[in-house]
Amino acid sequence: MPKSVQYDAEKAGIYWSRRVKEVDPLSAVLTYNAPKEINKAYDLWERKALITQLPSSQNRKKARSALDLGCGIGRLSLLLLQQGYNVTAVDVSQEMLSRCIRRASRAKLRESLECLSASANTVNLSNRKFDIITCFGLLEHLPPRVRSATMKHAFAHLASKGRMFVVVNNSACIWLNKRYHLTRQTKDGYYVGLVGVSWLQRLCSKHNMKLNIVASNPLYSIAHYCLSDNAQVDTKTLKRFVRVSSDVDLQLSPESPFAELTSAHYMMEIRHNR
Ligand SMILES: C[S@@+](CC[C@H](N)C(=O)[O-])C[C@H]1O[C@@H](n2cnc3c(N)ncnc32)[C@H](O)[C@@H]1O
Repeated sequence: MPKSVQYDAEKAGIYWSRRVKEVDPLSAVLTYNAPKEINKAYDLWERKALITQLPSSQNRKKARSALDLGCGIGRLSLLLLQQGYNVTAVDVSQEMLSRCIRRASRAKLRESLECLSASANTVNLSNRKFDIITCFGLLEHLPPRVRSATMKHAFAHLASKGRMFVVVNNSACIWLNKRYHLTRQTKDGYYVGLVGVSWLQRLCSKHNMKLNIVASNPLYSIAHYCLSDNAQVDTKTLKRFVRVSSDVDLQLSPESPFAELTSAHYMMEIRHNR
């Protein structure tokens, strides 16, 4: 998408609000038309990968603050609330925020959740700093200019010893090369593009931030892009495969050439470079 092309955040909000009313919660925030087991496996991989990165509650003397950018239905916000964080959840879709609030209320954690209805690149966070920032499944839905502005905004609100976790799709992945790439926002507000690790690496070095790859998901990606479309693989077999995929993926080296070729996603940790 050329840098000059207009991005309409309000339209994006309308798109995502409509989507979450139309399909089941995981299809609304993960893959739209994937089998349920595939989205469940992805959800499990991402939540397990994040939880292993968070400091244990014993190591946290007081409640700490977390910012969840593009929170959606609150998958990660809820995890952070359950870990004792005060969470600020930001989303451009009012319907997504309502789902996030509902989940927090059901878990009796509503008082630790603040919701802001805004675009992630311009949300007003005054002079607050956060110990943890999560940005999962958002960057690929922002055109490059808005994507960079969102990351720059997040860096400015990351505490000096804070850690930001970002999940990006992998532009080198053999399954994603041709899919998932629109050249402009559609009329109904949808946009998706390939992000990739090297783009994030360049951005981080420009802003004096340190980047580490903490997880990748080759086995999940094979299940998603090879098995789930294959009529010869029955649901039972697919379910058995995806049930083990998150644990296997989290044991593999996230930076191996195998992971680079096959993983559709990378989880990265970003810190200030001091
Ligand atoms: C693919 S979903 C991911 C949701 C959540 N992070 C998760 O992983 O479950 C993308 C989310 O980003 C939100 N979003 C899209 N554009 C946004 C923007 N410009 N600012 C803030 N949120 C946005 C959508 O409303 C949607 O909830």
